Amino acid sequence: MFAKRTNWNMAPNRLSEALAVHRAAGKPLLDLTVSNPTECGFEYDLSAILKALSNPAALSYEPNPRGLESARRAVAEYYADRKEDVSAEDIFLTTSTSEAYSYVFRMLCDPGDELLIPSPSYPLFDFLAEIQDVSLVRYPLLYDHGWQIDFHALEQGITPRTRGVIVVHPNNPTGHFAKPAEMAKLNALCSAREMAIIADEVFLDFALDGGRAASFAANRGAPTFTLSGLSKISGLPQMKAAWLIAGGPQQWKSEAVARLEVIADTYLSMNAPVQLAIPKFLEQRHAIQEQVIARVRRNLAELDRQLAEQSACSRLAVEGGWCAALRVPATRSDEDLAIVLLTTQDVSVHPGHFYDFASDGYLVVSLITPERIFAEGISRLLSIS
Ligand SMILES: Cc1ncc(COP(=O)(O)O)c(C=O)c1O
Repeated sequence: MFAKRTNWNMAPNRLSEALAVHRAAGKPLLDLTVSNPTECGFEYDLSAILKALSNPAALSYEPNPRGLESARRAVAEYYADRKEDVSAEDIFLTTSTSEAYSYVFRMLCDPGDELLIPSPSYPLFDFLAEIQDVSLVRYPLLYDHGWQIDFHALEQGITPRTRGVIVVHPNNPTGHFAKPAEMAKLNALCSAREMAIIADEVFLDFALDGGRAASFAANRGAPTFTLSGLSKISGLPQMKAAWLIAGGPQQWKSEAVARLEVIADTYLSMNAPVQLAIPKFLEQRHAIQEQVIARVRRNLAELDRQLAEQSACSRLAVEGGWCAALRVPATRSDEDLAIVLLTTQDVSVHPGHFYDFASDGYLVVSLITPERIFAEGISRLLSIS
């Protein structure tokens, strides 16, 4: 009686099973996979956050498919701060980036149509696509002292059913930004073939060199959807506030916005208290980003210090984001290594295959892990790798 698209293999994998057993036994755990910023010891301005949620204007209902104008104006100002010109009229508020993806997928793709996604990247794409009946085709990212798009492979992945290219900017977990030359190439490729660029910029503000990579939000060179939200930008995933921006050639954009408006109007999924709080939540980003970036830098420095004392493992270059990829000896599968780390060292890490690394020999660690846990976890990891 269920749709085939929900015939998932729900059995836990060996690592999640081992983790459940470990936790149930009450054993200590040095968790180097943390991604929830509210559980990492960052200091939030609690009273400002709570006060923002108690706006009396939330007692009346003003439905708007795009979301409340005051909130969209605050999002447009966030881009203006980055010197990117975005109109509040092109912004749609959503409860998550995942919801924003679903709007885009529904708008662009008939069942079986294809989207190109980077590999390695964020593991949720498979589910997001399956639920919307979209087929994913992976284009490899190449690593040579830094990551870059394999444009040859990307072009070979294009078929008459390809509707767009997903770019995660910077990517999770590789932590690399799309470079201006790559953005130009994507524009040329997508505009020539009537495909859209779908840019996920949830980590855009977390550049380690303190620089500001250009956003896709003001891109005019090809049909573009830019996705971001407060879960990373302000470290507030629990508030469920994100957005989708339509950009690109004017005629295409008008058509896209009209269609998006129907989808968004069907759900009207944003609630009033959070929308009214978005301007204040965006203000919180400065303090939280400062703490997150400082921690990421310190953890990376500690990682490099420990890596310098041995030769079996190394790390890949990181430009931004919250993760580091470690190169480890591929003497067993990454999953086996992660299980051994858990069961013998009480350390939890993600095996590379979780993010679709092309081969064994990679582990991914979270750089927002509290520093003492990170240092001890890395020391134990290196002791057995
Ligand atoms: C690349 C990327 N996009 C989106 C998200 C999730 O964003 P949201 O909480 O807005 O759905 C994550 C979360 O880790 C992510 O890594």
